[in-house]
Amino acid sequence: MPQPGYDATYADWRQHPESWWNAAARGIDWITAPTAAFDPGAGVYGRWFPGSQLNTCHNAVDRHVAAGRGDQAAIIWDSPMTGRVETTTYAQLQDRVARLAGAMAARGVGKGDRVILYLPMIAEAAVGMLACARLGAVHSVVFGGFAAAELAARIADAEPKLILTASCGLEPGRTIAYKPLLDTAIDLSPHKPGAVLVLQREALAATLKPGRDEDWLAAESAATPHPCVPVAGTDPLYILYTSGTTGKPKGVLRDNAGHAVALHNSMSMIYGVKPGDVYWAASDVGWVVGHSYIVYAPLLAGCSTVIFEGKPVGTPDAGTFWRVCAQHGVKVLFTAPTAIRAIKKEDPEGKLLAKYDLSKLEALFLAGERCDPPTQIWIADLLGKPVVDHWWQTETGWAITSGFRGLGLFEMRPGSGGKASPGYDVRALDEAGQPVPAGQIGSLAVKLPLPPACLPTLFKADDRFRESYLEAFPGWYNTGDAGMVDADGYVWVMSRTDDIINVAGHRLSTGAMEEVLAGHPDVAECAVVGIKDSLKGQVPLGMVVLKAGSTRDEAEITKDLVRLVRDKIGPVAAFKDCTVVARLPKTRSGKILRATLRKIADGETYAVPPTIDDPAILAEMESTLKALMR
Ligand code: COA
Ligand code: AMP
Repeated sequence: MPQPGYDATYADWRQHPESWWNAAARGIDWITAPTAAFDPGAGVYGRWFPGSQLNTCHNAVDRHVAAGRGDQAAIIWDSPMTGRVETTTYAQLQDRVARLAGAMAARGVGKGDRVILYLPMIAEAAVGMLACARLGAVHSVVFGGFAAAELAARIADAEPKLILTASCGLEPGRTIAYKPLLDTAIDLSPHKPGAVLVLQREALAATLKPGRDEDWLAAESAATPHPCVPVAGTDPLYILYTSGTTGKPKGVLRDNAGHAVALHNSMSMIYGVKPGDVYWAASDVGWVVGHSYIVYAPLLAGCSTVIFEGKPVGTPDAGTFWRVCAQHGVKVLFTAPTAIRAIKKEDPEGKLLAKYDLSKLEALFLAGERCDPPTQIWIADLLGKPVVDHWWQTETGWAITSGFRGLGLFEMRPGSGGKASPGYDVRALDEAGQPVPAGQIGSLAVKLPLPPACLPTLFKADDRFRESYLEAFPGWYNTGDAGMVDADGYVWVMSRTDDIINVAGHRLSTGAMEEVLAGHPDVAECAVVGIKDSLKGQVPLGMVVLKAGSTRDEAEITKDLVRLVRDKIGPVAAFKDCTVVARLPKTRSGKILRATLRKIADGETYAVPPTIDDPAILAEMESTLKALMR
């Protein structure tokens, strides 16, 4: 029977959303099947799959072993940083996860308890996440490029019973000792975990604190394997902290049932892969792409997933991605446009790519930031395979818009993120919350309810969830992105409507950086804006006004500020440019005109805002920023 195409599938979902999702739910093993697809009366805007019971780890691991896939690779760890490649089969993964769950249970972790993971790109990151899921515990993975203070904020908010970490992470040219960072974070946090399991890596051994820290592998091998614990479908699976507009990160919550159903469905519908296929998301487990498409979705679908510890360039060269694809027979690769730009810069003619047999690779998916059309066209021509830019967010957990390999891939238009995924009614709205005509720019919003796997709320913060996402346009989820939907249904995401910037596919808050700058004793006021960068898409630029009477050397102060952001937020902020200015442009009510500053720094034309208190300042900023950009 021919498969229904995109239009028919989307129309089917529009007409019968509940039966559409009930059909998708058949891809999951339930302990108790849901009583309905959706309960509009529960939670903030309704809850998916009420009355159900399941275990996500069972669905991602145990059921594949039971179905005879025990000897298939579940995880292929490929680490150019250590020169090692190691495969974990589904049967081995089941054993490791069950034992680690047993070790965690023996240390008091049970259903609903939080566990923080601060880990590099090693197989244990997936083992740790799945062990939490097995117990019904709620994991929160913190990206390794964050500093101790950011980790401390997450420990304080999540209040974990236990922390899983490793002795070190490996970045090109340096070994990052994770344990001292974690020790500092625990010292800074008012909440202290009862236990810490530390994976000792060869590159650097960590000192263990008696009574609290233990060796992970010793604890795992000595433990009794723990079975999967039944949880309610609406119980939380994980919290993933992401940047908001202030320094306090938002704890995006994900539930078990909606997540399992939508992610499992996405593997065939969006990526067009089936059990046994090799799927590689070249991201980091600390980001949502890593949660969804390094760990959960490929394993829920019975694929082999690649965990890659390296960079697109320099480990050892710009052919590394193609080497991994060829060596492991990757069918679908997913990465950020920044990675492709980095490869393009070093291997513009694709000479390194040409060395590898990429016959098994069928498609490349991109997300994390808007892909500039020249990069998308360059890589599509070089690969001779479909390149799909798809748009999503930490909050949604899977693509809001995409091309759909399982529904007959329609032609992608470079610069667009594709068309709405079945499950999402996406519109561009005007300020009054009315959809604007096709092709006009507005605030991109999704009609409530959000589909399964999207956040039901923020951890311990229903009000912040409503304020951040639901209040701007009643009845809609405000994505925080601006863009348009064209007459053919393609969605074009142009920019954020808030203070969030995307640096090398990493989502960062300029507000959080401003809080750090404002804390410096010589700084009176400051602004951080994201400016265009040919490699990273955007990078932050800081502008500070010094306090009257500050006598310190300006260069010393800006050096201090760069170091401060690195120490407080982390190297991932890539905050390297900061300049002292005499004053900042403001509205008459005192609001700094950040959007205008960004345009000036990018050399774009800008309109003089009617609310500006002193237009003369704009010419002053232009000459300062032009000198800086040179
Ligand atoms: N632990 C510790 N430090 C980390 C880290 C981690 N897990 N990840 C990054 N960092 C550090 C880097 O070492 C670097 O430090 P430096 O300032 O001392 O050089 C800094 O954070 C910035 O890192 P990064 O953004 O990776 O930039 P880069 O210049 O090292 O590399 C790219 C540039 C393009 C190769 C890289 O950004 C990249 O691979 N981007 C793709 C991102 C991605 O996959 N995003 C996921 C969204 S889908
Ligand atoms: P994150 O939550 O880190 O995944 O970042 C989400 C944000 O990244 C979105 O709100 C967008 O601003 C941006 N983004 C992600 N994917 C795309 C894409 N394909 N096109 C344009 N912007 C994107």
